[in-house]
Amino acid sequence: MSSLLHAATAVRERAYAPYSKFKVGAAIRTPTGSVHVGCNVENAAYPQGTCAEGGAISAMIAAGDLEISEILVIADCPSPVPPCGGCRQKIAEFAASDVKVTMCTTAGKSLTMTVAELLPGSFDASFMDMP
Ligand code: THU
Repeated sequence: MSSLLHAATAVRERAYAPYSKFKVGAAIRTPTGSVHVGCNVENAAYPQGTCAEGGAISAMIAAGDLEISEILVIADCPSPVPPCGGCRQKIAEFAASDVKVTMCTTAGKSLTMTVAELLPGSFDASFMDMP
């Protein structure tokens, strides 16, 4: 089992998903080899819940890293779990367009796509004419 799959599988166990019962784990590798993880954290006020990918990105930023070189997400579902639209945008903020996003099921299926394939024509800072 790859280290990212191992890390995402482990953090998924700690997901707080009492409402959907849908636990998700995510693991990010940075260019220096650091691994950061996150899980979904739901809330009784449903829109306040956060996704696993967002949690992993927050952990990455808190640790002082700014670049995703690889990301893996895992859930217990029939086919590999696609990141939601918001998470695709969040991933694109910190990952080059050719970075691989691997979507996994707990039963062992997986699908790998690039950031650009998941979010073609993403909004980025260039549209605001920022340096
Ligand atoms: N969820 C994630 O954490 N990541 C995804 O890629 C898809 C959905 C979470 C959000 C919510 O807690 C639950 O899964 C059901 O939507």
